[in-house]
Amino acid sequence: MPRIFHLLIVVALHVVVSSAVNVSLPLSPPSGSHSLARTLVSFSLEQDRWPDWSGVHSRNEFTNRALENYAELTGEPPKIRVGADSEDHTFWSPTVTINEDEFPPANSITPYPEATRITVGNEYYELSRFLPRGTHMTWGINLGADNVTNAVNMAKAIVRAFRTSAVRASGVVLDLIEVGNEADLFKNNGLRPSNWTVEEYVPDWISVTAPVAEAAGIRGRDGPVSIQGAAFASQQFTPGEIFDLGILDSKPGKAISQISQHKYSAAFCNGGDFPLTSFMSKAAVRGNLTVFEADIAATHARGLTYVLGETNSIACHGAPGVSNTAGAALWTIDYTLQAATLGVKEVFFHEGIGYKYNFFQPVSLNRSTIDGSPLDPPVAPHIQPVYYGGLVINTFVGKTGAAQIVELPIADSNVAGYAAYEHGRLARAVFVNLHAWLASSTGDRPAVHIDLDFASESSGAQADELWSRTATARRLVIEHADDTAGLRWAGQSYETSDVRPRGRLVLERLVLNEGIDLRSTEAVLVEF
Ligand SMILES: *[C@@H]1O[C@H](CO)[C@@H](O)[C@H](O)[C@H]1NC(C)=O
Ligand SMILES: *[C@@H]1O[C@H](CO)[C@@H](O)[C@H](O)[C@H]1NC(C)=O
Ligand SMILES: *[C@@H]1O[C@H](CO)[C@@H](O)[C@H](O)[C@H]1NC(C)=O
Ligand SMILES: *[C@@H]1O[C@H](CO)[C@@H](O)[C@H](O)[C@H]1NC(C)=O
Ligand SMILES: *[C@@H]1O[C@H](CO)[C@@H](O)[C@H](O)[C@H]1NC(C)=O
Repeated sequence: MPRIFHLLIVVALHVVVSSAVNVSLPLSPPSGSHSLARTLVSFSLEQDRWPDWSGVHSRNEFTNRALENYAELTGEPPKIRVGADSEDHTFWSPTVTINEDEFPPANSITPYPEATRITVGNEYYELSRFLPRGTHMTWGINLGADNVTNAVNMAKAIVRAFRTSAVRASGVVLDLIEVGNEADLFKNNGLRPSNWTVEEYVPDWISVTAPVAEAAGIRGRDGPVSIQGAAFASQQFTPGEIFDLGILDSKPGKAISQISQHKYSAAFCNGGDFPLTSFMSKAAVRGNLTVFEADIAATHARGLTYVLGETNSIACHGAPGVSNTAGAALWTIDYTLQAATLGVKEVFFHEGIGYKYNFFQPVSLNRSTIDGSPLDPPVAPHIQPVYYGGLVINTFVGKTGAAQIVELPIADSNVAGYAAYEHGRLARAVFVNLHAWLASSTGDRPAVHIDLDFASESSGAQADELWSRTATARRLVIEHADDTAGLRWAGQSYETSDVRPRGRLVLERLVLNEGIDLRSTEAVLVEF
C-alpha cells in the first residue's frame, strides 16, 4: 500500500494526461503562407506621458532593457507608435520645452486617465533618441482640432527632431506620420458633429494632411517618411470605403504606404465584469480577428501594408482579472500569431502609464492600476504577465526576418498551434493550451498529449528522419491563469528590477516520436 501511494503521487506531480491530439506539421510552408516581421510585436504608446517611457534627461533604463530583450530575440527592436487618444488633444507651442499635460481626476475604474490637453515643445519629440538603436517610429498628429496651423506646427517639430544630430546619432528612425486617431469616433466624442460621415472624413483628412505632408517634405509612399492611413477604431469607417472615396488619389493619399486599424475585444470604459475564460478561447480570438479579412484584402490589393496599429485585450486601459493576468499572456500569443496568419504585418499593443493591460510599467506608480487606491511605498517599474507572451512570440519569430508562418489545424477547442519555416524548412512550432486552470480549480490539472506527425508532399525520407530526431523545447510555465505574477519562461523569471532574466535556463530535450505533454494554461515552443 505505501509503495503504490508513493507512485501515484509521483505521477500526479508529473502530468495527468486527460486527452490526446494528433498534429500534422507540413515540412515546408504551404503556398501563400505569410512572412513573420521581426517587429510583429510592436507598441503603441499613449502620447500624454511619452516622456515617462523614453526618459527625459537620460534614457529610461527599464524601457530600454524591456525592449532590448525583445530585440535580442528577433534582431530588431519593436516599432513604436506614439499617439492614440491624446494625439487629437495635442498642441505644439513655441514656449513649452517638453510637455505640459492637463489631467482629469482619477477614479477607481480609470486610475490613470488620459490627459485632456497636451501642450508640447520641440524637445518632446527629440526624446525619441532614448529608444533602442534601430527603433522605427510612427508619430501622431492632431486631426481632431481641425486646425491646420497646429497640425503643421506638429509635423515641423517632428521632422525637425529627427534631423537633429542627437536623434540621427541614436539610430532611431521616423517611418510614418499618422493624422488623426480613431476619426470614426469623432462623431461620438464631440470632435465632429454627430452626423459626420466617412464622405466628410475623406476631404477633411485631405485638407489637413496635404499641408502636413508638404511641411514634412513627404512626397510619396516610397520616401523615407510616409503616411499611415485610416487608424480607425471600429469598422464604422473601413479602408475599403476610403479607397472607394478616392483618398489614395489625393496628393497626401498618394503618400499612404500603410493602413492601420484598431481592435479591442471588449471595453472597460464604464467598468464591468469580464470572465478571463472568454479571452482564453480559440474561437473568440478568431472571431475578433477574422472580421478584418476583407479590410486586409482591400489593403493588400492596393499594394499597401496592413497593421493593427493599436490593439490590446480590453479598451479603456484593460480590465482587472483579465488584462493583467497570466491567461492574457497566452491570449497574446494566440492573438498575435493568428493576426500574422491573416496577413497583419505588425500588432501594436497599446500601452499607457498605469494601464492594466501593459506589457510593462516603465516608471514607479503610487496608485493601484486596479482600483486607484494609494500605494505607499510606490511600486517600482515592473513587467506584467503579457510581457512573457512577447518573449514566446519573438522566440518563435526568430532572427532572419524571413520566417513564414502557418497555423496548424488542431482538433481541440483549447489548443492552438503554429509552425515557423526558415528557408522553406520547418524550424519551430509553438503550442498554446488556452484551457483555464484557475486558482479556484480543483482536482488534477488536465493536460493534453500532442502527437506529432510530419507531412511531406515530396520526400517521406525527410519526415522519417525528423520524426526519429530530438528537438529542444522551452515552456511558459504558469501556476494559475488568474495569477498576476510568478510566470517562468524556459525556467527563468523576468520579474526583476532591471528586466534581466533570473534563474537557470531550462531547455527540455524532446523525443519527437514520443510527442509533448501540454498542461492547461501553458505554452511550449519547439525548435527542430
Ligand atoms: C492518432 O493517430 C494514430 C495513428 O494514426 C491513431 O491510432 C490515433 O487514434 C490517433 N489519435 C487521435 C486522438 O486521433
Ligand atoms: C489653431 O492653432 C494655432 C496655433 O496653435 C492657434 O494660434 C489658433 O488659435 C488655433 N485656432 C483655433 C481656431 O483654435
Ligand atoms: C449635420 O447637422 C448639422 C446641424 O448640426 C446640419 O447643419 C448639417 O446639414 C447636417 N449634415 C448632414 C449631412 O445631414
Ligand atoms: C471577441 O473576444 C471577446 C473576449 O474574448 C469575446 O467575448 C467575443 O465573443 C469575441 N467576439 C467574437 C466576434 O468572437
Ligand atoms: C503620486 O505622485 C505624484 C507626483 O509624482 C503626486 O502628485 C501625487 O500626489 C502622488 N499620489 C499619491 C497617492 O501619493
